[in-house]
Amino acid sequence: MADGKTPVVAEAHQVDTFHPPQKMLDKHPSKPHIGSVEEYQQMYKESITEPDKFWGRMGRDLLSWQRDFDTVRVGSLQNGDSAWFVEGQLNASYNCVDRHAIKNPNKVAIIYEADEPNEGRNLTYGELLREVSKTAWTLKKMGVQKGDTVAVYLPMIPEAIVTLLAIVRIGAVHSVVFAGFSADSLRDRVIDGRSKVVVTTDEGKRGGKLIGTKKIVDEALRQCPDVAHVLVYKRTGADIPWTAGRDYWWHEEVEKWPSYIAPEIMNAEDPLFLLYTSGSTGKPKGVMHTTAGYLLGAAMTGKYVFDIHDDDRYFCGGDVGWITGHTYVVYAPLLLGVSTVVFEGTPAYPNFSRYWDIIDQQKITHFYVAPTALRLLKRAGDDFVKTKMSHLRVLGSVGEPIAAEVWKWYFEVVGREEAHVVDTYWQTETGSNVITPLAGVTPTKPGSASLPFFGIEPAIIDPVSGDEIHGNDVEGVLAFKQPWPSMARTVYGAHKRYMETYFNVYKGYYFTGDGAGRDHEGFYWIRGRVDDVVNVSGHRLSTAEIEAALIEHHAVAEAAVVGVSDELTGQAVNAFVAIKDGNDVNDALRKDLILQVRKSIGPFAAPKAVYIVPDLPKTRSGKIMRRILRKILAGEEDQLGDVTTLSDPTVVEKINRVVHDAR
Ligand code: WT7
Repeated sequence: MADGKTPVVAEAHQVDTFHPPQKMLDKHPSKPHIGSVEEYQQMYKESITEPDKFWGRMGRDLLSWQRDFDTVRVGSLQNGDSAWFVEGQLNASYNCVDRHAIKNPNKVAIIYEADEPNEGRNLTYGELLREVSKTAWTLKKMGVQKGDTVAVYLPMIPEAIVTLLAIVRIGAVHSVVFAGFSADSLRDRVIDGRSKVVVTTDEGKRGGKLIGTKKIVDEALRQCPDVAHVLVYKRTGADIPWTAGRDYWWHEEVEKWPSYIAPEIMNAEDPLFLLYTSGSTGKPKGVMHTTAGYLLGAAMTGKYVFDIHDDDRYFCGGDVGWITGHTYVVYAPLLLGVSTVVFEGTPAYPNFSRYWDIIDQQKITHFYVAPTALRLLKRAGDDFVKTKMSHLRVLGSVGEPIAAEVWKWYFEVVGREEAHVVDTYWQTETGSNVITPLAGVTPTKPGSASLPFFGIEPAIIDPVSGDEIHGNDVEGVLAFKQPWPSMARTVYGAHKRYMETYFNVYKGYYFTGDGAGRDHEGFYWIRGRVDDVVNVSGHRLSTAEIEAALIEHHAVAEAAVVGVSDELTGQAVNAFVAIKDGNDVNDALRKDLILQVRKSIGPFAAPKAVYIVPDLPKTRSGKIMRRILRKILAGEEDQLGDVTTLSDPTVVEKINRVVHDAR
């Protein structure tokens, strides 16, 4: 930035820089793994200029190998064929369980906080090894073989972790489907992932409400002929439909089998899991992660981003149905051998103190959650933050940009200025944190995810020219220039889509899909998606997928969905729908359309507003101009830009009237 000119990355000049609080360092059990910003910079430099040396050392330091590797990495972003630690062999469940159970069998691995306070229990590493082994036996006896996919449709109970580790123990691949997805969504994911077995519960319990998980599985499986078996954990004891020969009770099966089974020895690049996420088309992508690279990313970020130490008690509020739950409820804390909280409930049940009560009672040292929950709790009021939470050292934020005032509330009211706030930027595809402060080390600015993690070489690209913009104080879209161990290896069964989405947009780069700025000090500010992905309460949704759901309704001729900013949920889904002739336009229809999305995708994707309009704004070639809808919703109908390409320019005024009448 030339002196005297307006900075490009504006807010960087208006915010304070926060250093790791002295009180955090005072209560630290020893000292942070990294001693200073200079040490971070030195390690970072090595990770970029000598990646083989850096990652070879880290891989051997943090993971236990059955067979050592010779080659640290092969392949390139250009060809989308990165592979890591290729000759190495290891097992994920051995790394998460056995090595700790051998040394410390009585150490708590899982702290289960049930939906009802005080109904939880703990599982030690010794118990976890026995549970995982019995479940692994069970799955094997049900016919699951190395390389098979097992779908998991479970609420947040300890058995969710046990299931994932049992699957990977026998070399199978887990494909978790968030237990808020509808039967249709579950069906699509089971079919696409070629799952042979589904693991679920009779019911789930969340926020005092029951969820009919088994019923949803039954409905989904009506159209999944390749699923041979369903393993059902009894959570509530409800009366549920049963298909003899296909369905098995968890408690009846696991008691048949021994408490130890040897882990299957896997190659470093064998698939570890599939996780479906939304892209810019209507069809979800089965993001595939492989064993060693993913595990190393989880362990590395657990150690250096969160600064986890042996006696820490880690609480990530994410659900195991999303990547945050995979990496930071399950893999990172267990790889490092600490205690991890599995929380079944919601932050609002039985009241808005629930998180704070758990943190206080369980002496939690690390808390990690999405800003959407923080906005809700901030709004509920400081009176709910009654407990001292004196063990807290690190407060993490994830999933969406955190507004400066929410950041400050987190730091001051929740953390009492005794914990370091880390705003971690990453994606399902990156596997683990990629732009993030290191707890106890990196100075932070509220609203900025700060600096790149080891091995991540960010580039800001001009989306118009496609050229990288060098230097500081620049804005553009965010890409990465080097492969890193925990990056996704493919989109399952759709490698071409993987190449086109991430590597062919800007040749030689991994494209994140996010806009970003790099300020005058090299700090990154994430602006949000530049594709047709919206972020509602930290849930990643595709506008195309919601449109496809709406069009399934018999009355709908055309639909266009846009994300609008929302005080509570970050973004909210707004739908514009043109109705076929002969249908009455009324509130019942609007309700029915919302129901259609709930049924087709899940309750969390339901549009906040449905506008029934005579027609959508389209170009002469029939392309829907969503930009115009966004402008109308923002009240900027006087700034529509070029509307001469619209096939019917009068449509703007008509839509405008519908929106205004509805408000
Ligand atoms: C998208 C990825 C990976 C965690 C859960 C979401 C947005 C993620 C941040 C952050 C601003 C963020 C991005 C990204 N995002 N973290 N700290 N600040 N935006 O994973 O469902 O794969 O979504 O979430 O837009 O692309 P996901």
